[in-house]
Amino acid sequence: MPLPKTVAFVHILLAGHVAPGARVIDATMGKGYDTVQLARLVGETGHVYAFDIQSEALSATAARLTSENLRSRATLIQDSHTRMRDYILAPVSAVVFNLGYLPGADKSCATQAGHTLVAVQSALALLEPGGLLLIAIYWGHPAGVKEKETLESFVARLSPETYRVLRYEFINRYRPAPYLLAIERFVD
Ligand SMILES: C[S@@+](CC[C@H](N)C(=O)[O-])C[C@H]1O[C@@H](n2cnc3c(N)ncnc32)[C@H](O)[C@@H]1O
Repeated sequence: MPLPKTVAFVHILLAGHVAPGARVIDATMGKGYDTVQLARLVGETGHVYAFDIQSEALSATAARLTSENLRSRATLIQDSHTRMRDYILAPVSAVVFNLGYLPGADKSCATQAGHTLVAVQSALALLEPGGLLLIAIYWGHPAGVKEKETLESFVARLSPETYRVLRYEFINRYRPAPYLLAIERFVD
């Protein structure tokens, strides 16, 4: 098998981790590609909670879900992922972040280091034992370098007793190339 690109690897990991009936979060819904993938995996008995601050993201994602006959499997929330714990109270088995800006939309709506860090901390608090947190990092925008440095320093200090942290990156690509941070919470 050829080495998968970042987003393809995200989807491979999700497929191996998210079972029918799971509750999961898409923290950066965008055009809904990850939301649809998650909605397929959770089946009819699971649920996806997806966040974005832009109304265009909600309409694009709703349309994509509807066209795949998956609309009832996802709740689309127009709010910042920093507030995910106001909406989701019970543990989840996976959380996905796809950082940066929505292609073709307002670049000033790109994710920001401070907000992303708060949201990642909230996501970890919601992650059930055995759960997976995936962060695809696109850092070729003005706030991207600060965001990746903030996240790297945070995840590198997570307790090795509780979490396993993977960095998946093609290190000889022209920079800035996207890469993945994957955090798995150990089963207690
Ligand atoms: C790279 S795009 C996500 C792509 C998406 N996963 C897809 O499948 O199309 C990043 C998204 O994060 C959103 N975003 C930025 N700041 C946010 C925040 N504080 N809370 C939630 N979403 C945010 C942007 O509006 C943008 O749609």
